[in-house]
Amino acid sequence: MSQTQSTRYPPGHVRDAILAVMSLSGSPLSVKEIDNRVRQVLGPTPTSSIRSYLRLNTPELFMREARGKYAPRHREAGGPASADDEQPHWQPAFRSGNATLFHADCFDWITRQPDCGIHGVVTDPPYGLHEYTAQQQEKMRSGKGGVWRIPPSFDGNKRSPLPRFTTLTRQQLEDLRAFFFVWARLLLPKLVPGAHVVVASNPLVSYIVSSSLADAGLERRGEIIRLTMTLRGGDRPKAAHDEFPEISVMPRSMWEPWLVYRKPVEGRVQDNLRRWKTGGLRRPATDKPFGDVIESAPTRKAERQLAAHPSLKPQAFLRQVVRAVLPLGEGVVLDPFAGAGSTLAAAEAVGYASMGVEKDPRFFEMAKTGIPRLARYKVRLNARNDQAR
Ligand SMILES: C[S@@+](CC[C@H](N)C(=O)[O-])C[C@H]1O[C@@H](n2cnc3c(N)ncnc32)[C@H](O)[C@@H]1O
Repeated sequence: MSQTQSTRYPPGHVRDAILAVMSLSGSPLSVKEIDNRVRQVLGPTPTSSIRSYLRLNTPELFMREARGKYAPRHREAGGPASADDEQPHWQPAFRSGNATLFHADCFDWITRQPDCGIHGVVTDPPYGLHEYTAQQQEKMRSGKGGVWRIPPSFDGNKRSPLPRFTTLTRQQLEDLRAFFFVWARLLLPKLVPGAHVVVASNPLVSYIVSSSLADAGLERRGEIIRLTMTLRGGDRPKAAHDEFPEISVMPRSMWEPWLVYRKPVEGRVQDNLRRWKTGGLRRPATDKPFGDVIESAPTRKAERQLAAHPSLKPQAFLRQVVRAVLPLGEGVVLDPFAGAGSTLAAAEAVGYASMGVEKDPRFFEMAKTGIPRLARYKVRLNARNDQAR
């Protein structure tokens, strides 16, 4: 198969075809069977890309069953559910006020939710898929190697580790594309029409996340710019600082994109608002629309001491975003990559019901204490970053 032939179909088509042939089959299929059927759907398709999607989406979407056969986890279009599918393997483990946190893999959890039960999503997912693997977490905790780096101290303060997205390979970027496509596909039926989905990203990978969400069927509604000093980029060439003192290898990033998507509305926005309570964004005040640039200091030390997650997002920013996603203040906000529970805490603080999912047991434990503490945290707002003014 030549490279030209292999790029005839955008990646979404290969994934769609794999999902379709698996869902339509009543029994698990071998790679060869999947390969043949996908070719029937799409015409000539590189076996390597089919194999790579199967490998990557296991265990999120496909289960590898005995004798190298694959079956979809999510059997929307029929096919008998296995006994395992009947038994959720998580507990509704923790409640704090109107927030409920589940200790589970969100792909698994989402597939088991009833349709049309979620009114908004605000989440900060793993950008590169391997930074939250056990191996990379161990490297981060020991301070040695891996995707995490410790930025130079700033204003005399020790900085938290940051994942280094420039190290992502082409294959890892392709993994990222498949991850978000599959995630959004599973999420869509669980959202009410008009539900907003706000996803934190970064300038290096946001184009991939964004196109995957759109390919999956969500409607792009813009981006929120979190104006913040991220400490990414801006460095001089490694080991040649003295030789090239006036050079930065890439821009010093001072903003963070939060992608804004929506499940298509039913009818007009006003109809959708009446029926589903969603479709628009809640204004900070009747005479002020929700704006897409929010000034935001990096998460303060006092806040990080309440929940020491390496990617903790600040309450001052999150409360504004979370408040906006339920236009009438009714419904449930989900954070499927909950970390230390900062989104759930923000929902508590603005008086919303929320659900969260976190798969790492250490972060799950952290969130149990983090949610109530962060919800009580008094944010310091200024005239420019407070949309409620
Ligand atoms: C960027 S962090 C979120 C941090 C969060 N915004 C906070 O302020 O604490 C992403 C989190 O997603 C979790 N995670 C990664 N993959 C997951 C999955 N498949 N299901 C649930 N949680 C997952 C990671 O363990 C990590 O805690």
